[in-house]
Order: sequence, then C-alpha cells, then structure tokens
Amino acid sequence: MKRTTDFQKMKKENEKIVMLTAYDYPSAQLAEEAGVDVLLVGDSLGMVVLGYETTAAVTVEDMIHHGKAVRRGAKETFIVVDMPFGSYHGSEDRTLQSAIRIFQETGANALKLEGSGKVIEMTRLLTETGIPVVSHLGLLPQSAAVAGGYKVQGKTADAAERLIQDAVACEAAGACMIVLECIPYQLGEAVSKAVSIPTIGIGAGAGTDGQVLVFHDTVLYGNHHVPKFVKSYATIGNEIRNGLQGYVQEVKSVRFPSDQHRFSMHEQELVALYG
Ligand code: KIV
Ligand code: NA
Repeated sequence: MKRTTDFQKMKKENEKIVMLTAYDYPSAQLAEEAGVDVLLVGDSLGMVVLGYETTAAVTVEDMIHHGKAVRRGAKETFIVVDMPFGSYHGSEDRTLQSAIRIFQETGANALKLEGSGKVIEMTRLLTETGIPVVSHLGLLPQSAAVAGGYKVQGKTADAAERLIQDAVACEAAGACMIVLECIPYQLGEAVSKAVSIPTIGIGAGAGTDGQVLVFHDTVLYGNHHVPKFVKSYATIGNEIRNGLQGYVQEVKSVRFPSDQHRFSMHEQELVALYG
C-alpha cells in the first residue's frame, strides 16, 4: 500500500500518478490489477452509477456503501473517498462526525473536499484529527448550481492568481494532494510548481503530477455526457449492449439454455416418477 509520502516522492522524481474513480467491487479489482496508483470513490457516483442529475443528491450513506465495496475490491490500493455535498459545510462537529464515519467505515486512506475558503479550515481540522485530506480546486461540481454550470475555471490572470493562492493555502492546511479540474494547462503547470504536494489533473493539461478520469468515461460505460477533456480507452457499453441483445434473442428463440446448460435425471428415476 502506497502512502502519502510515496506520492510526494513520485512528484519529486517526475513519476506520474494515475488516479481513477471506482464505485464497486469488480471495477476496483480491475483497476488495482491494471496498476492504478490511487482509486477515488468520487461523488460522480451520483451521476454515472445512481442516475442523478447532479452530485448534490449523493449522501454520506451512499459514499460509505460504495466506499466499502471499493475497499473490498482493492485491498492494496490507496483509496480516496469524496465527502458528499453538504457533509462538510455545517459546524465543525458535524463535519468531523461525517468525516470520521466515512473514514472508519470505508477504510479509506484519505477524504476529498471541494473548494477553498471555509473548506480550508475543515481541511486543517480533519488533518489535525488524523484524516488525510485531498483538496479539489478549479471546477467544483458540487457548486455548479451557484457557478452557473460546468465551465473552465481560472482563465483570467486574477482568477488564476486566486487559484494558485488557494492551492498554497490547501497545502499549508495539511492537504496531501490537490485535484485540479477543468483549468487552462498553463495554470495546471503553475499550480503544480507552486506546491510541493502532488497535483492530479482532470482537464488541466499534462503538466500536473498525475491524472484522474471517471471510470465510466474511461471505458465508455453508460449514456451520460462525456466532457471534452476525457479520453476513452475502451467501449464497454457497446460490448454490454451486444451481449444483452444476444441473451434476449436466444431466450426468445429458445437457443438458450442448450443441452450443455441443463441438468438431467437418470432413466430409472424417471420411470419411478412416471411409471
Ligand atoms: O467525483 C469525481 O469523480 C471527482 C473527479 C472528477 C475528480 O471528483
Ligand atoms: Na467528486
């Protein structure tokens, strides 16, 4: 199992960190086998697995339920679990209560928090409690309703400067890693130079210390919107569709089950049964 210090070493030695989201047992197993460095149980769960419109509907219970499954599938991989919308924005007590529950019950190695401002105080609080924190800056899906949708962030000099300052503040508060979402590649590079903790980009160019993608985007599974910054490496959805169509057709046409898929009684038992 890698530790936060191993990721700092990877940054120093220019070895890219591969992060991927996972939400269940088989995908976590496959990701671990493929050599993914960090698994993120993202609240993108709400959209790609649970069929919600936004991540705002995801609960602490949802994150725990899926986090546990991912841990069972990837026992040797560093796992980050998202704190869901609203679970770290109330009092310090409530934030700590939610964080400790998610951390303990899932067996995660770190929790991820979106944003700056008061969230940076919560980052310090969790870190001091002994829970490693991954920060998330740039496009913040949990705040999309206020920000007016999903747009590239940090495009002006002012906004870029603020984001760099936020990243520095996250590191000072004890964050062990920073996810940078949907920012110009020049800013991705600048933030990565400004902090000594690893940066993990999604739509932030090649200059960050690692990359993260959503599992379902990476293998094209599902009919959700796939953003511009995604590259898909497989088309699993088509495979599944073809497979399921085959199953339906074969049951309808009585080609399945065939002789090899059935059980049989001995002749003498049939005689005893029917005479
Ligand atoms: O929830 C998620 O999948 C994320 C990644 C996009 C970083 O937060
Ligand atoms: Na997320």
